[in-house]
Amino acid sequence: MTPEQIKLVRTSFEKLAAIPDQAGEIFYQRLFELHPRARQLFWGNMQHQGKALFLMLELIVKSLDIQDKIVPIIFDLGKRHAMYGVRDRDYQPFEQALIDTLSSISGDDFTQDEREAWSAAFVFLADIMREACAKPAK
Ligand code: HEM
Repeated sequence: MTPEQIKLVRTSFEKLAAIPDQAGEIFYQRLFELHPRARQLFWGNMQHQGKALFLMLELIVKSLDIQDKIVPIIFDLGKRHAMYGVRDRDYQPFEQALIDTLSSISGDDFTQDEREAWSAAFVFLADIMREACAKPAK
């Protein structure tokens, strides 16, 4: 990711973090619409789930310029996701739902550059999580 892309991800994430409950609702509604299989993976309170997701995203977004430091955290997150039943094919609709949520919150302000910056951030994140899923838990 370029420094400019990291900046774009950070500024657009602030809009989402400012209204976490609403953003969580939009996000999961969109995810389940795009990928009905995801619904059966979640069993807890979805508001709590949204909070946990955004807190983790916040940590990752803040650390995008020190990626080496957060790789182990993301790797462990990926291993836990394997145990939740998450599979490779679940990551693409998750990315799409996240981008659609950002776009819906930002309206016309969500630019193509922001979209590409988020895709780059998500590739970084999902590649590590998928790799962790592929390796048996120690
Ligand atoms: C790629 C970015 C993702 C991030 C940052 C993320 C973040 C999180 C976090 C922080 C938790 C709380 C539990 C924990 O820390 O282990 C969690 C739980 C969970 N996530 Fe994710 N997640 C991601 C992708 C996905 C995908 C692709 C799916 C499947 C569609 C998924 C499904 C779940 C499920 C099923 C749980 C447990 C739910 C429960 O306890 O009811 N996540 N996720």
